[in-house]
Amino acid sequence: MPIKLTIMSKDLSRRKFLASVSMLAAGCAVSSPTHLMPAPDQKLKVTLVGCGVRGTSFWGQRLVRQYSDILEFVGLCDINPGRLEYALEYMGVSCPTFLDFDEMVSTTKPDLIIVTTKDSTHHEFIIKGLDMGCDVLTEKPLTTDEDKCQAIIEAEKRSQKNLIVGFNYRWSPYMTKIKELLNDGAIGKVTSVDFHWYLNTYHGASYFRRWHGQKDSGGTLWVHKATHHFDLLNWWIDSDPTEVFAYGALEHYGKNGPFRGENCRTCPHKTDCKFHWDITKHERDMKLYVENEKYDGYIRDNCLFREEIDIYDKMSAQIKYANDVVVNYSLTTYSPYEGWKIAFNGMDGRIEAWLDIPYYENMNMSQAEMHAAEMAQGGKEDIVSKPIIVHRNWNSHETQTVNYNRKGHGGGDAKLQDKIFKNPSNPDPLKHAAGIRDGAMSILIGVAARKSIDSGKAIKIGDLTELAPSVKRI
Ligand SMILES: NC(=O)c1ccc[n+]([C@@H]2O[C@H](COP(=O)([O-])OP(=O)(O)OC[C@H]3O[C@@H](n4cnc5c(N)ncnc54)[C@H](O)[C@@H]3O)[C@@H](O)[C@H]2O)c1
Repeated sequence: MPIKLTIMSKDLSRRKFLASVSMLAAGCAVSSPTHLMPAPDQKLKVTLVGCGVRGTSFWGQRLVRQYSDILEFVGLCDINPGRLEYALEYMGVSCPTFLDFDEMVSTTKPDLIIVTTKDSTHHEFIIKGLDMGCDVLTEKPLTTDEDKCQAIIEAEKRSQKNLIVGFNYRWSPYMTKIKELLNDGAIGKVTSVDFHWYLNTYHGASYFRRWHGQKDSGGTLWVHKATHHFDLLNWWIDSDPTEVFAYGALEHYGKNGPFRGENCRTCPHKTDCKFHWDITKHERDMKLYVENEKYDGYIRDNCLFREEIDIYDKMSAQIKYANDVVVNYSLTTYSPYEGWKIAFNGMDGRIEAWLDIPYYENMNMSQAEMHAAEMAQGGKEDIVSKPIIVHRNWNSHETQTVNYNRKGHGGGDAKLQDKIFKNPSNPDPLKHAAGIRDGAMSILIGVAARKSIDSGKAIKIGDLTELAPSVKRI
């Protein structure tokens, strides 16, 4: 598989970035080699499409605060004019704003477009961005179905530019340690994996309050949320998925609710509903969403029992890999606590890892605080230390301890951005960098799971797009 040409630079910051884009996409590209042409030394011109919570904070305010010496925002785009105004203020920038993406790109001629709109629209901006001659960095998930995925693959192939998928979890030191242990053959050849993720009644429920609750916007949590988990599995197992069989149901939220209201603010069931959420107590959500409802009707504190919800809240799948590993995966969205467990079974032993399972540790944090911590960016005071157990057949087990920052997706957020903007030429021996193939392979597991539920049959990944699963990840 050809890779895109990497341009190494000495000290030109813009060159350095462009090289990093190339490196991040390299190895994942599905197209022929390309030549990036760094322009003279000047700040990297960045635009953002989708000025919601993730766009304005992690890819907005944080980039401005951390990397203003090498980049500048030259345009912001959203369909909501009020949110655009708020984005300027929150990010601390004064660039032009646009309701029209094409106009933004043709007027501002950015080097890099960052896509943080709702999931079902990512493909539109990725494809146009590449076709208009820009590098593109998209938030996960790459897209929400196989046809859009194929269209992105084709756009990337015909483009001279690069596509990065922002998989932040991979960069967390805890996830990295697991990868190291597997790479080092700590348990021999891996044969099967059990992976179970629990979203709590705070964070899990939050997906049902807004667009994520509708299949045509977020592709269901099989895609919107599980893309993170499937990407980790693909990276850890170091092979491509070949076949998926899944079950799923909606049993807790949506039409299952005992009552429903218009939204939490006006709800007559405020006192009876365990999920009642008072958005008026959250200043940022008020400014970002409530004050701008009048423009597009986007209600952030929607009723999670509304009838239109058509995604699953209970999900379970078996995934077979090209290297014969089989995975048992589940995702629950109404757990009393938020956390996950994984076990890798190998020919010579077993690795067990988990995070945030309350009975394994003395945790006093509330479930709401825990979610806030994951999304926030932390400092040194947030460092925690967690175990990974390595059992070796016929031997006693050994505990490896990993220090990491619990904020910002386990410290992954900051490391991802540092790799792109600060240390682009650092070696990447564990292949943390993710591009189009990684983005595609992770969403295709979720797409296959949806199709499997609909058809009652196992779905082959190779039937979904032109990407043929490979025994060893490309
Ligand atoms: N990697 C992570 O850990 C992580 C965390 C949170 C969100 N995300 C991703 O970031 C993206 C944004 O999520 P969010 O929580 O900020 O959502 P959000 O609803 O807060 O923001 C989405 C924004 O996109 C705008 N938008 C929607 N359609 C548009 C269009 N056609 N053109 C222009 N603007 C449009 C909306 O008006 C809104 O301002 C999602 O894809 C999500 O999956 C990733």
